[in-house]
Amino acid sequence: MSTTTNRNDNRGSNPKSSSRFILGVAGLLIAVVLLGSGGFLWFTGGRGAPSIGGPFTLVDGDGKVVTDGDFRGKYMLVYFGYTFCPDVCPTTLNAVADAMDKLGTKATKIAPVFITVDPKRDTPQMMKQYTAAFSPHLVGLTGTAAQIADVAKEYRVYYAEHRTGPGPNDYAMDHSSVLYLMGPDGRFVAPIPPDESGGEMAAAISKFIS
Ligand code: NI
Repeated sequence: MSTTTNRNDNRGSNPKSSSRFILGVAGLLIAVVLLGSGGFLWFTGGRGAPSIGGPFTLVDGDGKVVTDGDFRGKYMLVYFGYTFCPDVCPTTLNAVADAMDKLGTKATKIAPVFITVDPKRDTPQMMKQYTAAFSPHLVGLTGTAAQIADVAKEYRVYYAEHRTGPGPNDYAMDHSSVLYLMGPDGRFVAPIPPDESGGEMAAAISKFIS
C-alpha cells in the first residue's frame, strides 16, 4: 500500500521524467501509426481535405495510355505494389477482388486500380496477366520510371529497391501498403484498411458509396 503511494508520489514530484514518459509514448504511437498506415499522419495533419492523388499518365495492360481523367465518374480503389511481390500485394489484391464480388451492384461504380512500383519488370503484358488472375475488373497500370515516381509521390507512396543478389533481377521492392478510395471527381475520399478480408473491405468501402 505504502510503496504504491510512494511510487505515485515520486512520479508526481518529478515532472521531467513524466513528460519524458509522455513524449516517449507519443513518439511510439506516431511510429506505430506511420508503420501501420504507410505514413497516414503525413496527410491528415492539414486542414480540409488532405491532398492525396492527382493527375497521372500511365499505360494499361494493352499498352494504351491511361490518365486519371479516364476514371472520372467512377470511384477508384487505388493500390500500389508490384507483380513479383511475394505476399502483401497478392493478399491485398485477393481481398480487393473478393470485396468487388461482395459489393454487388455498387461494384459497377468502382474501378480497382493496381499501380506498379516496379516499372522495370512490370511491363504492360506482365500487368495484364497478373491482374487478370485476380479479377477481370482490376486495372493494372505501369509507366516509365518517372511516371511511376510522379504518381507515387502524389499518392504519398514510399517504395525502394531492395537488393537480394548480384543479378539485375535480384531485387525486391519495399513499398507502403495503402489502399485509397478516390471519388468520382478524382478527389481522395478515404483510406481503406488493406489488411482485411474481402467482406470487411467491402463493408468499409460501401459506407462511402451511395
Ligand atoms: Ni507488395
